Amino acid sequence: MKKIFKLLICVLIVSCSSSDDGGSGPIVGGPTNPNPSTSDYLKDQVNFPIGNTVSAAELASSSTTNTAFKEVLLNDYNSITAGNDMKMYNMYMGPNNYDWSDGDAIVDYARDNDLRVHGHTLLWHPEYAIPNWLENFSGTDAEFETLVKDYIQAAVAHFSEALDNEGNPIVQSWDVVNEGYDGGALRSTLFQQRIGDDYIAKAFQWAREADPDVKLFYNDYNIAGTPAKRAAILNMVSQFQTNGTPIDGIGMQMHLNHNWPTSDLPLAIQEIASTGLLVHVSELDVKVNYADDITELTAERAALQSDQYQRVSYYYKTMVPISQQFGITIWGVRDVDSWLYDNGTEWPLMYDADFEPKPAYDGFKDGLNGMDVQ
Ligand code: G3I
Repeated sequence: MKKIFKLLICVLIVSCSSSDDGGSGPIVGGPTNPNPSTSDYLKDQVNFPIGNTVSAAELASSSTTNTAFKEVLLNDYNSITAGNDMKMYNMYMGPNNYDWSDGDAIVDYARDNDLRVHGHTLLWHPEYAIPNWLENFSGTDAEFETLVKDYIQAAVAHFSEALDNEGNPIVQSWDVVNEGYDGGALRSTLFQQRIGDDYIAKAFQWAREADPDVKLFYNDYNIAGTPAKRAAILNMVSQFQTNGTPIDGIGMQMHLNHNWPTSDLPLAIQEIASTGLLVHVSELDVKVNYADDITELTAERAALQSDQYQRVSYYYKTMVPISQQFGITIWGVRDVDSWLYDNGTEWPLMYDADFEPKPAYDGFKDGLNGMDVQ
């Protein structure tokens, strides 16, 4: 009897210590993989979420393409971000008038398929990302501010009510402000002009008032690759941490080139992680034709792209403390569906038009498994 008991304890110890992360720090959000070694799919290589983008329309569609898309999505990913559907222009129809339908459909799909949803994004400055009626709002600045506050709080509160089958929130996080810096300076935007330079801090406070638990992210591009911009963002984050402005994480978009950035990539990941906040690689893609010097994806360029994907996953996996690993989200599945596709002159993602994995897929996976580029 004693022997059987001892055996049972041994089995338990072995199975509890078999995490491929070599530790058992807290995992933030998202389903975790019970047994990483049994599957080749991306999400099963690591204990942090691996995400991709979706739209309500493609999730609802049963076309051949979208059926194939969903197969890849559910095999390789366990976190989703709405590429467009949960942006202000698609949800804020007028004062006290919201259309949550696309976001709700995404959340329902996530519930049915055990996925985490990352909310993207509460405030984003381009003209096309702000509803026309708000862009052209002719009331006072104070009234404008109230409209923005109302929207943030309504969106956060609405989606905080979506729970999975075990009663846990599905939308676990929001990009509160997207791309608030331009190089090393605060970007001049409608929100900055009408609310003031402290609009980012206010947005985080409003979001926190609407949900005490949801993870709040600041999200931006070129955090790796542009040290002056990173310094400005780190300075803002440090001020937030000093004055108690609620912020939980930083989203590094990671729209990269095959040959850029180089040494600044690990440095950036290290510096962002040194804030102690959650780190989300939130919009990863890797251009191969930035200089417009190829007319088809060559084997050589595909290999360089693969190396760059591998660097991102390797550095993320090995440099970000486990408790800060919010996950890596890729910004699209097929090259042909990328925002960068540009009539077939750019190939920035990990799958070809037939949903076949490119070399980048294996590079990314190798990085997830702790292998550096040779
Ligand atoms: O859905 C409509 C379709 O019905 C219409 O026929 C077509 C004609 O233009 O437009 C379609 O909507 C487009 C939508 O993408 C879906 O494809 C919008 O015009 C287009 O503006 C929109 O672009 C998105 C862009 O953000 C603006 O929202 C890109 O897909 C999306 O990848 C991009 O994502 C941003 C991140 O949110 C922030 N970081 C940068 C990143 C790339 O710009």
